[in-house]
Amino acid sequence: MVTVLDNPIIAHKLAQLRDKRTPSGIFRALVEEIAMLMVYEVGREFESYEVEIETPLTSCRVKILYEENFVVVPILRAGLGMSSGVLKILPNASVGHIGLYRDEKTFQPVEYYSKMPPNLGEKILLVTDPMLATGGSAVAALQMLKDKGARKIFFMCIVAAPQGIEKVSAAHPDVPIYTAAIDDGLNENCYILPGLGDAGDRIFSTL
Ligand code: PRP
Ligand code: URA
Repeated sequence: MVTVLDNPIIAHKLAQLRDKRTPSGIFRALVEEIAMLMVYEVGREFESYEVEIETPLTSCRVKILYEENFVVVPILRAGLGMSSGVLKILPNASVGHIGLYRDEKTFQPVEYYSKMPPNLGEKILLVTDPMLATGGSAVAALQMLKDKGARKIFFMCIVAAPQGIEKVSAAHPDVPIYTAAIDDGLNENCYILPGLGDAGDRIFSTL
């Protein structure tokens, strides 16, 4: 299932991300802000729990999230730009890292790092990567997480190509995809069109 977060504020910030004149510092801040806005929308699916608390005046029942149950999982590198935004909203979540890069010739994902907190099967995972292009990286990352026991996963990206959505939906139909936009397709180098270029390079100024 794919949900496009069709919101004027997100669209406004995405427009700035797409603009090639946007410098790295602003680009990084925008990615973080979009992730904050996105997690607000994804959060509609989170289960909240009623507890009793004392206000300064009386007691009352309130609804809370158990933030410790969440694991934010950026796909390195570009996913880090979004995970910092998610962590501003859920500061007590834990963080798992998956290092994957896309081979420049074959476009296949190559794994180079993985470090996860324990008990993934009991956690809610928020996987972040701004770009869903062919879908190879996302499919591999989600499989790695499931192999480690993960069961409840949300995938958050900013720009998705139809090919990537199809590939992830086919391989992981149980993982909902949230994106700010679905673009037209991919160019011959498997970059998203119109897209925003290389997200990792723009976030970390490695162009
Ligand atoms: C980018 C992006 C995704 C992947 C998407 O990462 O952040 O992880 O490509 O492409 P796909 O859907 O075709 O697999 P990249 O390999 O450029 O690594 P980086 O984040 O370290 O720059
Ligand atoms: N990775 C990116 O950073 N951008 C794309 O358009 C495709 C993959």
